[in-house]
Amino acid sequence: MPFIRDLEFPALATHTPRVLTGITTSGTPHLGNYVGAIRPALASARARDEENFYFLADLHALVKCGDPARVQRSTLEIAATWLACGLDADSIWFYRQSDIPEIPELTWLLTCVAGKGLLNRAHAYKAAVDRNRAEGEDDDAGINAGLFMYPVLMAADILIFNADKVPVGRDQVQHIEMARDFAQRFNHLYGDHFTLPEAVIDENVATLPGLDGRKMSKSYDNTIPLFAPRAELKKLIAGIVTDSRAPGQPKDTEGSALFQIYQAFATAEETRAFAQAFADGIGWGEAKQVLFERIDREVAPLREKYAALMARPAEIEAILRKGAARLREAHATPTLARLREAVGLRDLSQGPARASAAAVKKEAAALPAIKQYREADGKFYFKLVLGERVLLQSVGFDSPRDAGVRVAAIRHGEIGDAQSDFRLGEGVTTEEVNAALAAFVAAQLDAGDGG
Ligand code: TRP
Repeated sequence: MPFIRDLEFPALATHTPRVLTGITTSGTPHLGNYVGAIRPALASARARDEENFYFLADLHALVKCGDPARVQRSTLEIAATWLACGLDADSIWFYRQSDIPEIPELTWLLTCVAGKGLLNRAHAYKAAVDRNRAEGEDDDAGINAGLFMYPVLMAADILIFNADKVPVGRDQVQHIEMARDFAQRFNHLYGDHFTLPEAVIDENVATLPGLDGRKMSKSYDNTIPLFAPRAELKKLIAGIVTDSRAPGQPKDTEGSALFQIYQAFATAEETRAFAQAFADGIGWGEAKQVLFERIDREVAPLREKYAALMARPAEIEAILRKGAARLREAHATPTLARLREAVGLRDLSQGPARASAAAVKKEAAALPAIKQYREADGKFYFKLVLGERVLLQSVGFDSPRDAGVRVAAIRHGEIGDAQSDFRLGEGVTTEEVNAALAAFVAAQLDAGDGG
């Protein structure tokens, strides 16, 4: 049929699940990042039944951090941290967001399908507005559009590689839901290009409390840097809040930041022993010493590798560039080419405009078609079909020309007085046939080829 000829329905190849996560490069990696993101991500990458994408979200860093030196230092530190912790850049995709120009390009395509109302409800933006209101300021005072658009950039990070799973903290779940929303809208308009990603929250991964007992986070300024030198690590641990119970008094493990941090590093057995020590009234000073030794035992060998890596930034730069170049070639560049084509950013020399794949698919599904064929009796037949369903079946004609005349009439929606040339398909009503013919004619008018 002329109007469904030459169409491609992009099919998503089946693949091993893709797991993608990014870390914003605006700070120094801390124990919370290690326990909550880096360590579980690397354990999962070693499991090898998935394709992993781990990246440095440096474009995201610009939203909150206007300090170029800090963005640079943080990018280096975070890259060195992943590598020191055992990331194998040859067996997973490891890259820097800003090395993939297709990501900001996709951000724009997604921006144009993203609902502004949905973005208004993003937690981070809303919190900033609420602060302004509380201070009697204008709603958007001091808020840059980067904060507002943050979820769209994040969606581009995820969708460009059709990630299936995105391990994140609870605070990021809304962003994944938004990515799904943008993907759905895009797919609806332009065809099935994007996988709908799912947030993965590992219930076993603790959110680590910081020095003051609140969640460890650079925004609370309560972090313990992962690779603080031994002496500094010790000093910081000494500063973790505790209650004022004296040595010899039993201590609560419940609600104790010290205990929770210990638990994140220790085996179940060590944790039980530490809980017993709490019950037995271990002094806080001693408990902090135990915690320090336990963390340092895990971190010390990584710290050494980290120092070696930090001393050779050119090597890290080369690893990141190579990762991005491979990834662009394998995925980002061809994907963006398809997406550009889908939205109409096209090579103009390539002939007449084509409808979007989604529109075509919908039409093709709803459109009747005429199939002509010759039977063993030597006669020429045709049938009008809608999908699998036969609406009309012709009698046999002696010449292709006789059949052709009727086919042409049907294409113009005219069955007229030739009704004796057909019979209705099984269970088909004349209304159905008329509706099909009307759709047929309308589609040909739309396609502009007049049949
Ligand atoms: N917004 C994430 C955070 O602050 C970082 C991030 C950026 C990210 N892009 C991503 C995480 C894509 C997962 C997937 O933690």
